[in-house]
Amino acid sequence: MEKLFINGSVPLKGEITVNGAKNSSLPILACALLCEGTTCIHNCPELSDVDATVKILTHLGCRVSREGSDITVCTDGCCRCDVPDSLMSEMRSSIVFLGAILARCRSARLSFPGGCELGPRPIDLHLAALRRLGAQIDETGGTLDCKCDRGLCGNTVTLSFPSVGATENTMIAAAAASGRTVIQNAAREPEICDLADFLNKAGAQIYGSGESTIIIDGVPKLHGCEHTVIPDRIEAATFMAASAVTGGDLIIRDVVPRHLQPVIPVFEQAGCDIKCLQNIITVKSPARLGPFKCIRTLPYPGFPTDAQAIVMAASTVAQGTSIFIENIFDSRYKHTHELRRMGAEIKTEGRMAVVQGVDHLTGTGVTATDLRGGAALVVAGLCAHGQTAIGGLNLLDRGYAHLARRLRGVGADIERRAPDA
Ligand code: UD1
Repeated sequence: MEKLFINGSVPLKGEITVNGAKNSSLPILACALLCEGTTCIHNCPELSDVDATVKILTHLGCRVSREGSDITVCTDGCCRCDVPDSLMSEMRSSIVFLGAILARCRSARLSFPGGCELGPRPIDLHLAALRRLGAQIDETGGTLDCKCDRGLCGNTVTLSFPSVGATENTMIAAAAASGRTVIQNAAREPEICDLADFLNKAGAQIYGSGESTIIIDGVPKLHGCEHTVIPDRIEAATFMAASAVTGGDLIIRDVVPRHLQPVIPVFEQAGCDIKCLQNIITVKSPARLGPFKCIRTLPYPGFPTDAQAIVMAASTVAQGTSIFIENIFDSRYKHTHELRRMGAEIKTEGRMAVVQGVDHLTGTGVTATDLRGGAALVVAGLCAHGQTAIGGLNLLDRGYAHLARRLRGVGADIERRAPDA
């Protein structure tokens, strides 16, 4: 099994480019299933989660071709409406296929989805929303058996929490339903807007994405189109943390600074000098970071839960005390065990983590506990004294493409190899 070997304490310097957003690519690819003919999606990152999505599309009968970050999906031969357990269990976001398959085939048979270990991740909001649109869903025996013999029908859907996935599933299903759907308490993440932009290019009529109420007027048909996925704001936040923690001076390209508005002030407060220029963010970092004070994760435009572990890694070597409150997921502090093994002083209690900054971390063998927890270990390894060896790279590969090579390009001493190679 390969590991990432990092010799830390090297300030990062130079330019690094952010890839397309994983969390946009997945629902947009699933949604291509609804588009007649050929759809071309640009800026899709080379990630194992994208591979898993392509496998599902292929299983459903789509012809999918991939050239670098361009993925073309042709739905002409699409003939199936089931996703087997082996494909569903590869990632949680496979649930986003439910709305697309149901809308296309008027029936769908999926097993319950897999995904990151972030505590219980139910899909009750997805199912309640689709039932509001007329789907009959039988959940017995670990399988979701869904049908809507007369097609889906627009309705008001009020989400009890602004779930990203449930908002996406509802938007996709409603785009091809008959009549008007109004989603209340919708998620407002940039990836929701990207999905709406894609759907509108394909002929859908969606208004209000990015706000709490989204209106969707269903159309009889969606057609193939071309779309470029937005940059990955969490990858950008990871590079910001990597610069911050190494006393670096990094130019981060292909970002949308607006999407990072909840994150930028956090790094500024810790002493980084940050400048935004169109699609570039520069992060110039002090020799030692100040505390991150109190970070509460919230739905967008609040601080993203996906950046919590990454910023926490930076806070372990900041001066003073930093406090984190995780409001989105129940069990998102697993990375703290591994950070402690590197010398971090972190106490957790329920939703809260208190980090007392130490002079330095010390490299050792650690294992990624989940995707962003793995990224946090990379950030920690970049600033640690000595060598850090990170295992569990299959989790990192879900969200970061060619990470070692790209970080080497800005001066990091990082290598991916088998331990004895
Ligand atoms: C998406 C992102 C993930 C991010 C998360 C929150 C993708 C592929 N993944 O995940 O990276 O961390 O948003 O920003 O886009 N919930 C329910 N019932 C449901 C659905 C969700 O109780 O039916 C709960 C979840 O358990 C969780 C919270 O709502 O506690 C947020 O989940 P949600 O916004 O749905 O996250 P995902 O779409 O799974």
